[in-house]
Amino acid sequence: MPASVNPPLVHAVDVIGTRDEARHLAGELAERLGISPDVERMVWDEASVSWVCALVDGGRGRLTLAAPADPAATAADTHRLVAAFERGTPAEAEAFFAAARHLPFTATEVAAAVAELPLTSRLADRWPDKPLAGVGVLLTIHHMRDFLVLVDSLLALGVDPAHMTVIDKEYPYAHTHRVDAHLVHRHGIRVWRYRDLREGIEDHIGRVAAAGKHSVIMDDGGYVMPTVLRELPEQAGHFTGLVEQTTSGIRKVEGLELPLPLFSVAESDMKGMIESYGIADAAVRNTLRLLPDEKFEGQPALVLGFGRIGHEVARVLEIRRMRVAVFDADITRLVAAHEEGFLTGRSLEDLVRAHRPRLVVGCVGSRSFGLREARLLPERSFLVSTTSRNFEFALDELREGSTTVTDRGVLGTSYQLADGPGICVLGHGMPINFHFAESLSNRYVDLVLAGLAVGAVAVAGRDERLRPGHNVAATNAILAESGIVDDYYRLYGPAAGAGRG
Ligand SMILES: NC(=O)c1ccc[n+]([C@@H]2O[C@H](COP(=O)([O-])OP(=O)(O)OC[C@H]3O[C@@H](n4cnc5c(N)ncnc54)[C@H](O)[C@@H]3O)[C@@H](O)[C@H]2O)c1
Repeated sequence: MPASVNPPLVHAVDVIGTRDEARHLAGELAERLGISPDVERMVWDEASVSWVCALVDGGRGRLTLAAPADPAATAADTHRLVAAFERGTPAEAEAFFAAARHLPFTATEVAAAVAELPLTSRLADRWPDKPLAGVGVLLTIHHMRDFLVLVDSLLALGVDPAHMTVIDKEYPYAHTHRVDAHLVHRHGIRVWRYRDLREGIEDHIGRVAAAGKHSVIMDDGGYVMPTVLRELPEQAGHFTGLVEQTTSGIRKVEGLELPLPLFSVAESDMKGMIESYGIADAAVRNTLRLLPDEKFEGQPALVLGFGRIGHEVARVLEIRRMRVAVFDADITRLVAAHEEGFLTGRSLEDLVRAHRPRLVVGCVGSRSFGLREARLLPERSFLVSTTSRNFEFALDELREGSTTVTDRGVLGTSYQLADGPGICVLGHGMPINFHFAESLSNRYVDLVLAGLAVGAVAVAGRDERLRPGHNVAATNAILAESGIVDDYYRLYGPAAGAGRG
């Protein structure tokens, strides 16, 4: 007989809304659990004020809509939905929590997010004639609350939810399961996981082409087009345009001959000049949140890559009173870092040996730091990445060169190097601003998300300025004339708040 879970497992989600909204959400969840194939029956138990869930293999779960014992420590109108797994096997527990975590947002929570993204949420006012009604959209954008506002906006611009597909990048964001549940249960949108990327693309093309439509790709990291061109080249003609939001996506399509226009929000002035600071700040804030008892002031830090994000990270760390060194493989960037007052060197190894950083922040976008350099770090130092997925550090090398590797839960992975220090790779080397977090604040990211939608409208409308391949100048022009940056300035510029009395 398989081992039973012991002690009981508990998962709690804080939901914000009216009492009725919370009850409705919990009721819906109980109903969904009730019809899941892993569940034999769901019974309301008056004595414990909870649903008791009898699983087919004899396990038992429980669902309770509770209130926080200390309301002063939570946001107003918080309800706490507690899913407990009291008895059964680990496999049953996994199935139970997979269902119990799948909880859409309340109308109150959605309304709050919409209010925080005024540019994105009001795009349909600019284009009331539903310019996206004739296309399908395939999206690979981070599973965060802000993304739901973008999705709402795309639907308001005319996209049929049946012709929308979302690829979940499978990062551990703060609300990843709830975002997923909202897409599926509130909008009926098909969600595929990153690991099933090709299947997801094929399913999308089949569904949308059957309706006689073409599709726009809205990507964040160059996931879709390289896969299409390499593995499904005969299907490339289905797509009319690509909107890309990040430089790593641009790098991935660089060697490819793009048969369609690329609307490069990634390389736009708007993104480089306004957003990079926010990403750097979010990365440093989340690093400090994960390490509340460290003292970094006065300590040495090293930033790898002095590009748009690395430059801002170096400045943010300096403001946090760290002694910051910078390494960049490009001599011009290295000179720029030196002339801005950062400690620099032509050899990464020498720089690490001399500076002995306690915090290393990787902002290169590809592998930049391995076992050889890690051996030179001081005891108890931290590696942090802002790069997509876990590409920045040579984690396989670190593993091979360690006597022990320890999973430290939310903190990340610790490596005791065989002939070096014990170090910790925060967030397991994934981009730290998304690690159980939501990166930029909604009001900040609003501009970039609105920019993506502007791009989708432009490529769907076959704007004649957009030619197959890169279109940086045309992207800048279209973004500028859309008026979203003007609106952002009106909202947050010097005149913001004028006339409020
Ligand atoms: N976490 C986020 O929210 C987020 C958002 C956007 C982009 N990104 C990631 O950040 C990466 C960097 O973005 P960016 O806009 O700053 O890119 P960028 O091209 O402006 O900067 C990269 C820098 O790294 C340098 N470099 C290249 N190879 C190097 C090496 N081996 N060693 C040292 N330096 C090297 C380059 O010369 C350049 O200065 C992207 O590739 C992407 O993966 C993360």
